[in-house]
Parts: sequence; structure tokens; C-alpha cells
Amino acid sequence: SARLALVPAAGSGSRMGSDIPKQYLTLLGKPLLAITLESLLSADSIDLVYLLLSPDDSWFRDQVALEHPKLRVLYCGGASRAETVRNGLLAASGAADDWILVHDAARPCLTPAEIDRLVATLQDDPVGGLFALPVADTVKRADAAGRVAATVPRDDLWRAQTPQMFRRDLLSRALAAGASAAVTDESSAVEALGLAPRLVVGPVGNIKVTYPADLAQAELLLTMQAE
Ligand code: C5P
Repeated sequence: SARLALVPAAGSGSRMGSDIPKQYLTLLGKPLLAITLESLLSADSIDLVYLLLSPDDSWFRDQVALEHPKLRVLYCGGASRAETVRNGLLAASGAADDWILVHDAARPCLTPAEIDRLVATLQDDPVGGLFALPVADTVKRADAAGRVAATVPRDDLWRAQTPQMFRRDLLSRALAAGASAAVTDESSAVEALGLAPRLVVGPVGNIKVTYPADLAQAELLLTMQAE
């Protein structure tokens, strides 16, 4: 069976407060999306990388124009991340037992070695799983007035990252069943089928670029990796 990476990059990145979608912002002189793709393309454990863009995306052609024998570009973005991934799965042909690794375009600091480690850890798992990190901060639940309603015990809480890795048939079933808006990652769609994806301790540096301040941190992480 093949191992395919799907990279949803059809979001507008509204929290970044920029006119440019965040995946096209520049990190160390390179579009963020190009850095993410190059890492996946360099990982020996990945056979093909599918980039999932918005149907009206012209940025990729104009600003990135990356070509690689392992790269396929699909203009199949949907209204939500889950819909984008579902469209990508339908368009990317292959076998039911292919492993699908969904990775956020907005996580450029993941290294090829870490991708290979995730694949090696999960390739015999009956369900699949995801990179995640134990929560380090004390966690509060808020009431409607913005006051603390409770302190939530954090010992069993994790922050989900990507890649999230599942067999094609399971992921297709999960995303077909799930209500798109509530599903913010692939794991939650699989969980809704009653399955328990495996949590694999992810890299601390595998941050998601969401706010402007994340750009500087991502540049620092990439500089450290290059040393
Ligand atoms: O907005 P957020 O950071 O959660 O988006 C996570 C990833 O999903 C990003 O790479 C974004 O481009 C992608 N996305 C998408 N289609 C959407 C919304 C988000 O591919 N409709």
C-alpha cells in the first residue's frame, strides 16, 4: 500500500490579519507553503504529496510554482478543512489500505525525520493516530462572562498536531459521516466512529502558524534546524 500526504491549504487565514493567505507568507525568504511541501517531499516514507488548494487560488502558480515528481496539485478546496480533505481523498486515486497523512500547510517546521518517525510508529496500528503534545499550561474553563468557571485537570489533556495518519478507507468513512463544521481535525472524525486513534508525542517545534507572532517563532525554529 502507498503512503500519501494530503496538505489542505485552501484556508484564508483570517486570524493572521493579512491580505495574503498565511500559507503564502514568506519565512526566511521562502513561501511558508513551499517549506512545508519540501519537508514532506523529502521524507522517504512518503510516496506522493497532494496539495489541496482553493479552486480560485492563483498564488501557488504565481508565487510558488513548485514542481516535483512526487507532487500533485489539486484545486479542490471546500468550505471547511474537513471538506477540503474529503474532496482531496475523492480526487486522489489509490487503494483502500493506503496510509493517508494529513498535514496542515501552516505547520512548516516539521522535519522529514519526524515524518518518518510517525510513519514507523503507526504503520502497524489498527486505527492510526496523530502527533500531539501534553498540555503544559494550567487549563481554565470559562463562563459566559469571561470568568473562570473551573480549572480543568490537565494530566490527560493533549494538543493535537498534524500529521494525522489513517488508512484511506477508514478516513473516507469518517469524513463522509462527520458534520464538517464541528470536525477540526481528522482524528475527531475517526473518534466519532467509536475508534481511539493513537497519540504519538510530537515535536515541540511543530507549531501551527496562526497569528503574526508565530511567523518569527517559525523562522527561529527553521534557522535552528538548518544549523
Ligand atoms: O484555519 P486553520 O489554521 O485551522 O487551518 C488549518 C489548515 O486547513 C490550513 O492549512 C488551511 O489552509 C486548511 N484549510 C483548508 N480549507 C478550508 C479551511 C482551512 O484547506 N476551508
